[in-house]
Amino acid sequence: MKVLVVGGGGREHAIVWKLKQSPKIDKIYCAPGNAGISKDAECVHIGAMEMEKLIAFAKEQKIDFTIIGMDDPLVAGIVDAFEAEGLKVFGPRKNAAVIEGSKAFSKELMKKYGIPTAKYEIFDDYDKAKAYVLSQPAPIVVKADGLALGKGVLICQSHDEAVAALDEIMVDKKFGKSGNKVVIEECLSGPEVSVLSFCDGKTVVPMVSAQDHKRAYDNDEGLNTGGMGTFSPSRIYTKELNDECMKTIFQPTVDAMAEEGRTFVGILYFGLMLTKDGMKVIEYNARFGDPETQVILPRLKTDLLDIMEHCVDGTLDKINIEWDDNACVCVVLASGGYPVEYKKGYEITGLEEAEKDKNIVIFHAGTAIKDGKFVTNGGRILGITALGKDIDDARETAYAAVDKVNFEKKHFRHDIGIKKY
Ligand code: AMP
Ligand code: GLY
Repeated sequence: MKVLVVGGGGREHAIVWKLKQSPKIDKIYCAPGNAGISKDAECVHIGAMEMEKLIAFAKEQKIDFTIIGMDDPLVAGIVDAFEAEGLKVFGPRKNAAVIEGSKAFSKELMKKYGIPTAKYEIFDDYDKAKAYVLSQPAPIVVKADGLALGKGVLICQSHDEAVAALDEIMVDKKFGKSGNKVVIEECLSGPEVSVLSFCDGKTVVPMVSAQDHKRAYDNDEGLNTGGMGTFSPSRIYTKELNDECMKTIFQPTVDAMAEEGRTFVGILYFGLMLTKDGMKVIEYNARFGDPETQVILPRLKTDLLDIMEHCVDGTLDKINIEWDDNACVCVVLASGGYPVEYKKGYEITGLEEAEKDKNIVIFHAGTAIKDGKFVTNGGRILGITALGKDIDDARETAYAAVDKVNFEKKHFRHDIGIKKY
């Protein structure tokens, strides 16, 4: 089979790397891909939002199966566009991807179907939003309704901060149209866990759990980023919690979407928080997480393409999905200054040396090739990923490899996988 993966970050590198192990696949293309992905797939110079070009390419090359990695094209309806041309594609349609594309939609869904989440109100009027914020105790959470590159959530410690957040989102339109509406939520506390799942519209199969580290610096200090590292499994997510979530969150969400005529097929990502009142949904995503995917897929024993085909065919209950009983840690190497301001084009050394360890795999996020050498080409550059018998073992292996890979102004967190919860 010929497969096309749409996207070009560390997540898509992990997807391509896993697909490469499938005996069913003869050829993998990735659009647009990146320099690291080009070692494992043929990269095609088409952007993830260039739907017509992607469809023309898929037809020309007789692609059998296309996998959409990123949120923007899903929310914009790329799956509907591929299906309209008779092309087989993995991901939710536009009317289901809205579960990530609109936080107001996802909150209303949870309220209607009794799925546990933080209390909230939705506003499209600035004055009413401000009056509400001032009537609530701080801290308070202000969220832009639409996609905002993971930066549209502001945890406000005071009323002044919350009003400033409303100004940024609704008046200055920092996130464009995504800020036409805001969701204002009570601030919950507790450890967080990401549980991604495979869905065929009826059946939902959770994957092994993971934990992200969103802040730029050690001890969760600094600005929020796209993710500075992950580990799997989460230390808090027991089998009992998984059973509870299956009953109160996972199956109810998939059933609710079907009931609403928005059948969800693809990867449904549950961002969860273990509060004193039990597990609650913080957010949904309609795709694989980045960098969660980098620690989840290396633990998957079953053929990824097989699972995805069962999702699209509506037969997910007919496949047994198996995981290794090990652990995985991914440390992101970023450009100094990320997520605010950083330079590109520095040479990267030590990749081959680091990958000599058979427990290490390096997923590329923001690299380019210049004069035959890898150079930095973004904020997040690489995900140094290690397998081990447990998290401490994997962490040790990962950091030993981190020391071998170098570029100017290399920045990373030293505490990935250390959290005891
Ligand atoms: P999101 O972009 O929705 O994943 O939100 C980013 C982060 O904001 C989450 O991972 C949480 O750490 C935090 N967050 C979001 N909503 C809440 C909430 N209601 N209470 C506390 N923290 C929250
Ligand atoms: N790591 C969080 C996300 O992919 O949204």
